[in-house]
Amino acid sequence: MCGIVGYVGPSSALDVLLGGLKRLEYRGYDSAGISVVTNGEIQTQKRAGKLQVLIDQLSASPMADAQMGIGHTRWATHGAPTDGNAHPHNAGAEQISLIHNGIIENFSELKKKLVSEGIEFESETDSEVAAHLLASEFANTGDFEKSFVSVANALQGAFTILAINKSDPGLVMAARRNSPLVLGVGDGENFLGSDVAAFVDYTKTAISVGQDQIVKLRADGFELIDFNGNPVEHEEFKVHWDASAASKGGWESFMAKEISEEPQAVGDTLMGRLDANGDVNLSEFDGLSIENLENINRIIITACGTAAYAGEVAKYAIEQLARISVSVELAHELRYRNPVIDEKTLVVAISQSGETMDTLMAIRHASERGAKVLSICNTQGATLARESDATIYTHAGPEVAVASTKAFSAQITAGYLLALFLAHATGKTENLNQLGKELLSLPRKVKTTLEMTGDVAEFANQLKDIQSVLFLGRNVGFPIAMEGALKLKELSYIHAEGFAAGELKHGPIALIEPGQVVIVLVPAPSSAESLHAKVLANIQEINARGAKVIAIAEQGDDEVAEFAEKVFYTPKTDPLLSPVLSVVPLHIFSMELAKAKGLDVDQPRNLAKSVTVE
Ligand code: M6R
Repeated sequence: MCGIVGYVGPSSALDVLLGGLKRLEYRGYDSAGISVVTNGEIQTQKRAGKLQVLIDQLSASPMADAQMGIGHTRWATHGAPTDGNAHPHNAGAEQISLIHNGIIENFSELKKKLVSEGIEFESETDSEVAAHLLASEFANTGDFEKSFVSVANALQGAFTILAINKSDPGLVMAARRNSPLVLGVGDGENFLGSDVAAFVDYTKTAISVGQDQIVKLRADGFELIDFNGNPVEHEEFKVHWDASAASKGGWESFMAKEISEEPQAVGDTLMGRLDANGDVNLSEFDGLSIENLENINRIIITACGTAAYAGEVAKYAIEQLARISVSVELAHELRYRNPVIDEKTLVVAISQSGETMDTLMAIRHASERGAKVLSICNTQGATLARESDATIYTHAGPEVAVASTKAFSAQITAGYLLALFLAHATGKTENLNQLGKELLSLPRKVKTTLEMTGDVAEFANQLKDIQSVLFLGRNVGFPIAMEGALKLKELSYIHAEGFAAGELKHGPIALIEPGQVVIVLVPAPSSAESLHAKVLANIQEINARGAKVIAIAEQGDDEVAEFAEKVFYTPKTDPLLSPVLSVVPLHIFSMELAKAKGLDVDQPRNLAKSVTVE
């Protein structure tokens, strides 16, 4: 949560900061602000609301440009989204300016001390304590760098802080603990950002700043030190995507663009990992030697939100193909329930951002207990990848819309690759090549599905006044039902619940009353153990009670049309692989319904894309 950008160099600081904030706005959009130093004075502008409110204010009252500065886009934790609580926070009679992402857990104790020394606070944020602490240290020592290091050591919790000082306008200081920070290495200019999107317009060379590290950033260079002031090693990496990949490129929303990229996300995730015979090659496993895998007797998949539903699909695939016991645990639950984890456990963490704090805490907990950690991650240089023994990158490209779509398709695809790899590694090779070949056809089939679901928009428009939608699925359709419900909740603010279809009679059927919309993921007629017939029976049960049934079914399944008001068909595939196809109409449905209600599909209320606090 919160997007952070810092810059020192010859370009227009206002352009760099506002451009960076625009790309980071998906991280939080409650308020935005910037600070620069011009003519030896700190200038700050900040406003509650989306970044555009700040941009409009800057047009109305322009500020002088500068060659350095810091910018922030906020997702509120402590204090409402108001102008006063917006960052940056200035202190020491406008001597310094500071921005913060995270939660300062000891802010109350620090604040009491500062108040007792006569310092007046202007906001309700935890962040403002860091600004006053820094100003007061600097007033005592006259050494900005040392004061900054001392403040980093005094704070507890999760923080990325960036600070500038009007007496040294060529310097931006930054510190990172439990919160993301990357450095962009330019030519005669350098950058800081919550992720590479902040500066990818200017440089593709980046450094992932490690845990408990401090950056001294100047135009002609930078230094990384630890919290004791000792130099630390760093490694550069290249950003593999262009700025255009993180722009709308003519689409009306990022979400529409990202749904259209689902075929490519699946294809790029498979590329180089599956040959034409369906043989899988995951060189990423180098960090986890085969001997380690042979010792594994269980897998725990951990993630949050949509990523956890991708994990549920991976569970079906791994258990079916590799016959290894898998459980899926929400990361925030796993971490705090003293789970049975040891060196025979493989923990698979799934995250688009690789910065979800709950997921990071879960893998740290697992590593401390001796487990090997494999991550499935979409973001280069992310903390999750740095802290895992091995990483399978999903190559979905930057995902900007808060609601995850193409990253979800890529995560499921990576789960299939993992299942195939584990099945090979454990000698369960029967039918694997056939499934591998079918997996290779998925990008084309996802594209066909997109073409087949052209009328979802019209249908969603007719339903725009509904109050509640239920989603039913079975086997691999169950996590897709959960995903459909989550997407609808977060985008349309409509009550939506996903259920396992078999659970219906155990309670949820009481919710069915005439007119209730129920979206049913119908298993393919060829699916294991006649689930098709069982789900059709479920449809009849809810039809009998007046429900309005919308089905997602495999092409050629004419039987379902007899019982559903509307059927969205998907191409035939192996039933295990069907989630990548059946989720497409659900993603489009949630987007179209939100649009029909006049809502912002890229930035739904109260949400942020990366949840970097627990
Ligand atoms: O970055 P992550 O994949 O770790 O994020 C996990 C969830 O916060 C995320 O999937 C969230 O549920 C999305 N907003 C769903 O669309």
